[in-house]
Amino acid sequence: MNDELQKEIAKRRTFAIISHPDAGKTTLTEKLLLYGGAIHLAGSIKSRKTARHAVSDWMEIEKQRGISVTSSVLQFDYADCRINILDTPGHQDFSEDTYRTLMATDSAVMILDAAKGVEAQTKKLFHICKERGIPIFTFINKLDRYGKAPLDLMDELENVLGIRAYPMNWPIGTDGNYKGVWNRKNNRAELFAADSSHGQTTRESTIFALDDKNFIAAVGETDYQNLQDDISLLTEAGEPFDRAKIDAGELTPLFFGSAMTNFGVQNFLEEFLRLAPPPAAHNSSKGIIEPNTENFSAFVFKIQANMNPAHRDRLAFIRICSGKFTRGMSVRHERSGKTVKLAEPQQFLAQNRQIVEEAYPGDIVGLFDPGIFGIGDTLTSENDKFTFADFPVFPPEKFARIRAKDTMKHKQFIKGVTELTQEGAIQLFTQAGGGTDNFIVGAVGELQFEVLEYRLKNEYGTQILMNRLPYETARWLYLPEGNAPITPATLKGADRGMFVLDRHERPVLLVDNEWALGWIRENNPELILKETPQ
Ligand code: G4P
Repeated sequence: MNDELQKEIAKRRTFAIISHPDAGKTTLTEKLLLYGGAIHLAGSIKSRKTARHAVSDWMEIEKQRGISVTSSVLQFDYADCRINILDTPGHQDFSEDTYRTLMATDSAVMILDAAKGVEAQTKKLFHICKERGIPIFTFINKLDRYGKAPLDLMDELENVLGIRAYPMNWPIGTDGNYKGVWNRKNNRAELFAADSSHGQTTRESTIFALDDKNFIAAVGETDYQNLQDDISLLTEAGEPFDRAKIDAGELTPLFFGSAMTNFGVQNFLEEFLRLAPPPAAHNSSKGIIEPNTENFSAFVFKIQANMNPAHRDRLAFIRICSGKFTRGMSVRHERSGKTVKLAEPQQFLAQNRQIVEEAYPGDIVGLFDPGIFGIGDTLTSENDKFTFADFPVFPPEKFARIRAKDTMKHKQFIKGVTELTQEGAIQLFTQAGGGTDNFIVGAVGELQFEVLEYRLKNEYGTQILMNRLPYETARWLYLPEGNAPITPATLKGADRGMFVLDRHERPVLLVDNEWALGWIRENNPELILKETPQ
């Protein structure tokens, strides 16, 4: 066993923050950086209203719209931990980028707005995390103003998301005017000093034993009695603390706080770091790869071109799964079988990039991509040979036909569409029998189309014409072994949808409803329909 490697792995916490827009993800991220000492005064990550943008907003489109379109990574230290936060786009609209980022995390922090509870986007992101079986921690935010009652929020988690919660702390006081929290693990009260800095600096708390008469005097008899009642209720009727259930994502540790005023933020951070798992093992074609395996391995979960308009670079983000990464090391790129030297690896804090000398499992590193990396690719030590399993392809739900507005720009158009498809920004199909500029693009969320249009214009100098198609579902078409390939002519009912080929020339049918799918199934009994390519 390599002690250094083991020690570094135990220090790492790699997680994503998931939430509905406006629940407070940017604010909480900033406060975690503040408590970690990575920034000294909160407010350096600016809000959208003031038209300044978050540190993780790289692309021009993000600045313009004030949203985070692409996922990014922030790294900092707190106590003995090395923290990697993967940012997930918080826009209403979904993109595949979000899904993929969640494949690279070991746990998730779900933020809810205390007044709004569980919202649409939270639900979607929660379910992806649940499917992966990773631990999910809940932070109920905006406790500095009126919101739903804590017990009602717990019920909502159970009824809407189907997960039971174990409150790690509990607000003391009345709605809109909470004075502090009951720290359940230490069974003590923490009352917060008034926030005189508007949340710019860390916030002190005073600690009391629950039966301390100074505490009772500070909160008043009514609030004290209410707290006692809540504690009894939670102890008698609540779910018991169960580490195994938390690790399996079946019980969510629940925290109350206010990211804006720093109420409960430190308590959350410390307890989260204590309970969140260090880097997990990953399934591969040669079995489980434990993080403390000597040999290096990683997978690409995101590719981003043109992050810096001054250098037309392309970065592949890898999640390290095992072994130690060192700058300049040579690794095997499994899909091409080539050896690649990792010369200028980058890590990110805010908008500053740093060259990484070494990194460990759980860390995210940006690699300059010479054009060979694809989403889901595995990198291993030169003497190894395996691929990581289960990197999912997401079924597209929205489709459009695109072509270059100016036919003179056809070459740039093809280059742009090809590169952005490789990057995973969009899925590309061609209509069987259509011309070369007859491209159909598929996406999970609407925003992916806007990003495509914007990037083709700004990075490849090509404006496009886009016609939305009425289809909502794609099915990859397969026949049992030994059959002739499926073509529009051999598929009965091909005209009930659109017959296209994906970028590996596999046949796919786009349809607009379940009814059409039913008809196709019935009339082509041999046909095997798959939501994603096999
Ligand atoms: P997001 O990244 O999840 O979309 O949310 P973000 O942190 O940008 O927060 C959305 C809004 O909610 C911001 O207000 C932010 O200040 C506010 N907010 C975040 N945490 C808290 C909290 O604990 N309490 C209260 N009361 N508000 C909070 P904004 O009006 O959009 O911007 P700003 O001008 O106030 O910064």
